[in-house]
Amino acid sequence: MTQEITLTRPDDMHLHVRDGAALNTVVPHTAAEFARALIMPNLKPPVTTAAQALDYKQRILAAVPSGLAFEPLMTLYLTDNLPADEIARAKDAGVVALKLYPAGATTNSDAGVTDIRKTYKTLEAMQRAGLLLLVHGEVTASEIDLFDREAVFIDTQLIPLRRDFPELKVVFEHITTREAAQYVAQSDAFTAASITAHHLLYNRNAIFTGGVRPHFYCLPVLKRETHRLALVQAATSGSAKFFAGTDSAPHPAHLKEHASGCAGCYTAHAAMPMYAEAFDNANALDKLEAFTSFNGADFYGLARNTGTLTLRRERWTPAESFAFGDAQLKPLRSGESLPWRVI
Ligand code: NCD
Ligand code: ZN
Ligand code: ZN
Repeated sequence: MTQEITLTRPDDMHLHVRDGAALNTVVPHTAAEFARALIMPNLKPPVTTAAQALDYKQRILAAVPSGLAFEPLMTLYLTDNLPADEIARAKDAGVVALKLYPAGATTNSDAGVTDIRKTYKTLEAMQRAGLLLLVHGEVTASEIDLFDREAVFIDTQLIPLRRDFPELKVVFEHITTREAAQYVAQSDAFTAASITAHHLLYNRNAIFTGGVRPHFYCLPVLKRETHRLALVQAATSGSAKFFAGTDSAPHPAHLKEHASGCAGCYTAHAAMPMYAEAFDNANALDKLEAFTSFNGADFYGLARNTGTLTLRRERWTPAESFAFGDAQLKPLRSGESLPWRVI
C-alpha cells in the first residue's frame, strides 16, 4: 500500500476566496497546498473590469503568508453588457478567463447572463484573444428539476455555444453528472471540465444523513451514486480533459445553518487530502498528479509548476471551525478524521 506520494505542486482551477478579512483565513489554506488558483469573480459587486481584477489580486496576495509562493489567476464575471473592448485590457492585465453564471443559478449570480446570445460580441473578442470561457453549467428555469439542470444545460446551451464558437476554449465547471462527464470526454480539444473533491467523495445522501446537513449543500447539488461513480471514472481515466477545481466556497456558518442556507462547501483546508482519498478509494493514486498538477495548466496554456507537494497516509483531524471575519467558518467534514495529510 502506498504510504507517501510526492506530486508536482498542484493548481486549483476553481476557487472562491471572497474579500476583506475572510481572505486572511482562506488564502493561507489554499497557498499551503497549491502553487496557483483560479479565483472566481462572484464578489458583491462582481469583478467585471481588468482594473478591478488587478486590485483584487493585490488584496489576495497581501493575505499570502510570507515564505509561501502563490499566484492567483484572475477571472472576470461575464455580464449581458460587458464591453468587448474590456477583453483586450483583461488580456493585458493577465486575466486568463471569463466566468459565465446564468443569472440566478448560484451564489452572487444576480448580475449573471440572462441570454448567452447577448454576450456573443464579447465571446468573439475572447476567442480572438485566447481567453477561456468558464461556465457554471446549469439552466435556471424553475420548471426544470433541480437535479436535471446540468444535463439540460448541455443540450440547450452548451451544444449551441460550441457550434457557434468552435475555437473558444470552454471549461465546464464543477461537473456533477454522468451526462457532463460523457459530453466532455467525447468533445474536441477545446472543451474540458473541472471536478471538485466533494463530488468525487459524496453522493446526495450526504445532504440528508441523520437530518439536513447544510454543509454538504452546494451548487450544482450532489447527485446520486451513479453520477459520482461516473465522475470518479472520468477523473481517474487518464484523460487530460479533466482536472482539479475545488470550488471551495466559504460562507459564514450561521448563513449555511439557516432556513434558506447558502450554497457552497468549504474544502480548501484539506483539498489535496480529499482528492488523494478519492483517488486512493479508486486505486488510482498514480493518476492523481496529472489531474491536480498537469491537465489544468496544459489546458489553460500555462507552464506546469516546478515545486512539489508530499501527501502521507496518516490520519488527522482538521479544526471544527475557523474564524471568518466576525463569523465562523465550518469546513467540510469538520472534526472528522481524514486518511491523507499534507506534510
Ligand atoms: C459558489 C459560491 O458560494 O460562490 N457556491 C457553490 O455552491 N458552488 C458559487 C458557484 O461556484 O456556483
Ligand atoms: Zn458554480
Ligand atoms: Zn464555484
